[in-house]
Amino acid sequence: MRKFIIAVSTLVFACTGSGPSNEKSTKVEDLLSKMTLEEKVGQLNFLIGDGFNTGPTLMTRESNNFDVLVKEGKITGLFNVYGAKYTARLQKIAVEQSRLKIPLLFGADVIHGFKTVAPIPLAEAASWDLAEIERSAQVAAEESSAVGINWTFAPMVDVCRDPRWGRVLEGAGEDPFLASRIAEARVRGFQGKSLADARTIAACVKHFAAYGAPLAGRDYTEVDMSERQLREVYLPPYEAAIKQGAATVMNAFNDFNGIPATANKFLLQQVLRKEWKFNGVVVSDWQSIGELIPHGIAADSAQAAQLAMDASVDVDMMANVYASQLIRLIQAGSIKQSQLDDAVRRVLQLKFDLGLFDDPYRYSNEEREKKEMRTDAQVNSALSMAKKSIVLLKNENELLPFSKDESTLAVIGPLANAPAEMNGSWSFFGEPQHAVSILDGIRKKVSPKTSVLFAEGCNLYDDATDKFAQAKAIAQRASKLIVVLGESAVMNGEGASRSSIGLPGVQLDLLKALAETKKPLVVVLVSGRPLTLEWVDQHMPAILETWTLGSEAGNAVAEVLFGDYNPSGKLPITFPRNEGQIPIYYSHKHGGRPYEGDYQDPLNVRIYKSKYRDVRNEPLYPFGYGLSYTKFEYSNLIIDKEKMSTDESVEVSVTVKNVGKVAGEEVVQWYIRDWVGSVTRPVKELKGFEKILLQPGESKTVKLNITSEVLSFYRADMSWGVEPGKFSVMVGTNSANVLAKDFVLN
Ligand code: NOJ
Repeated sequence: MRKFIIAVSTLVFACTGSGPSNEKSTKVEDLLSKMTLEEKVGQLNFLIGDGFNTGPTLMTRESNNFDVLVKEGKITGLFNVYGAKYTARLQKIAVEQSRLKIPLLFGADVIHGFKTVAPIPLAEAASWDLAEIERSAQVAAEESSAVGINWTFAPMVDVCRDPRWGRVLEGAGEDPFLASRIAEARVRGFQGKSLADARTIAACVKHFAAYGAPLAGRDYTEVDMSERQLREVYLPPYEAAIKQGAATVMNAFNDFNGIPATANKFLLQQVLRKEWKFNGVVVSDWQSIGELIPHGIAADSAQAAQLAMDASVDVDMMANVYASQLIRLIQAGSIKQSQLDDAVRRVLQLKFDLGLFDDPYRYSNEEREKKEMRTDAQVNSALSMAKKSIVLLKNENELLPFSKDESTLAVIGPLANAPAEMNGSWSFFGEPQHAVSILDGIRKKVSPKTSVLFAEGCNLYDDATDKFAQAKAIAQRASKLIVVLGESAVMNGEGASRSSIGLPGVQLDLLKALAETKKPLVVVLVSGRPLTLEWVDQHMPAILETWTLGSEAGNAVAEVLFGDYNPSGKLPITFPRNEGQIPIYYSHKHGGRPYEGDYQDPLNVRIYKSKYRDVRNEPLYPFGYGLSYTKFEYSNLIIDKEKMSTDESVEVSVTVKNVGKVAGEEVVQWYIRDWVGSVTRPVKELKGFEKILLQPGESKTVKLNITSEVLSFYRADMSWGVEPGKFSVMVGTNSANVLAKDFVLN
């Protein structure tokens, strides 16, 4: 039996030791002592290469000039370029022609796989499978480290409770505990045991901080939140990743409580450097130092440079502000020499840690580039990750799985035959020809006698309904329908917020038209965020959320549709009924006037309770929700003591039984409630989970050990610790369906 046991404490970390060192290295000091002011500033200047663009190009690109810049020591490295030959050629210039022979960093947005495209991070989070997620990051590191890349701008660990925000796809959802465990797994996957290992790359935790909470869900805009909310909800995954040894951090674009993150001393100096003792590189986000001017906090580039340096941002990505301003500011005494030296020291240390001074070509390996790209093992990992990421949202009368021997299946929808779309938002390294469409996956899976009909049905966005008739015609000929709907990759990701998050264009109308055929129908959703699906849920018998699954999407979806894999994914984020409910999340506060009615009373009656007049309070699908082709029964919740003192722990156990007919994996979820505190506490908080495989009829006892640390929180005075009183421990198959027991902390 496979199982993953999750440590329950958020604050007890195991450091891999591969992160930045806090000790001064003599090699670094030696090199630093030989550097001119210009050479030091060069080490802080970081440009995109001439591959492709991932941001607004508001500065003059130096693309024809990289050789000269490298030779003159004016850049620390390039990003979003790759190729063993390409990177080796530039490394050669750096280590043979530049005065101090300092090798280059090659960074890249390897966010969900490289040539083997993995599911988007939100999808991976839905697997709740830490070993699989770690392996996925490892595959990305194996492939990208062969082509010169030594630094990935991942993991993104921004908690997000607003699915309008386009970048919700890049994180692990709404919950700090789940997001923290996933952040650790991703750092372990990228960095392995040693950064100097040629098959690992440096991780970059981003976007520090609270980038996932922009006002109204609109990318790049302001964030205004209490320090309590920041520390309780948004900071834990960054801290977990850093304690796991993440080598670098990227600051966020957003204004945080009136001071943009790029210049925010509270975030960068106080929390990151002082409290967490992070001594690695902080890189700005694309041009974010320059953006201190439009933010209205700096009058000009000189002031922008000053503010970012004072906040301890080490590397300037794409703003050209450090390159143009630092020398003058140092000479004028506005920035201290020691500030500059500290920043350069951290960059050099990273290059030493990556082993670049020992062998600058270690990541530019033509043989590995040929042999270790999309190997069977790597593609199999992507398939395994993809199928575990799928969430079964509805399955009335066990409509799924379909038989492979069905005589005629109709596969309909604008995303059914769209291989390039399967690669998702951050997949410019992946090749569209490697991605398996859902239609192809189905065709490969069914018996040779099954005829598979296909119609696009409609376009992704526009209002045209002219393709409906053909879709209806093929639906009439089929015994069952598979309707593939959702968002294209450009509808989510950076700069792709949406104000309404339903199915775009006329896709819902297409679905309604197909429903008129009364044929058994499964809706297969492709999306980078939760969608609003009330009509679909009310009227369609079966729904699969497949997110955006990467190169192996079609194969993974087919395995689930035809029962070769029993779905085990659970939502890492709440699905609202409509946009007006946003932000909506399971770990909300109870409040003084909660509405706990049954909604039998008319919605428009005024009652002085916390509710809407036009929609229920509850989401459509809660956090942690996901069905299986089998059923799990929870019983026998036992607590070993009803009273504990702060130096004791409580052990709780529950029996989970597979009472269905097929084997299946269940994610057993543990939640805690602290009933009375010096501050109000959430109605539930995830504190542990375990993914178990059970054969039909098999049962297993799952345990949670509750220590004081598990019950600790930021008290009224912001100190971390416990308060005595009544607690509930809850366990269940999702956040809304739990068994509970109480105990008292003395
Ligand atoms: C801006 C994005 O916010 C960041 O995540 C990314 O790494 C950089 N662009 C570089 O492409």
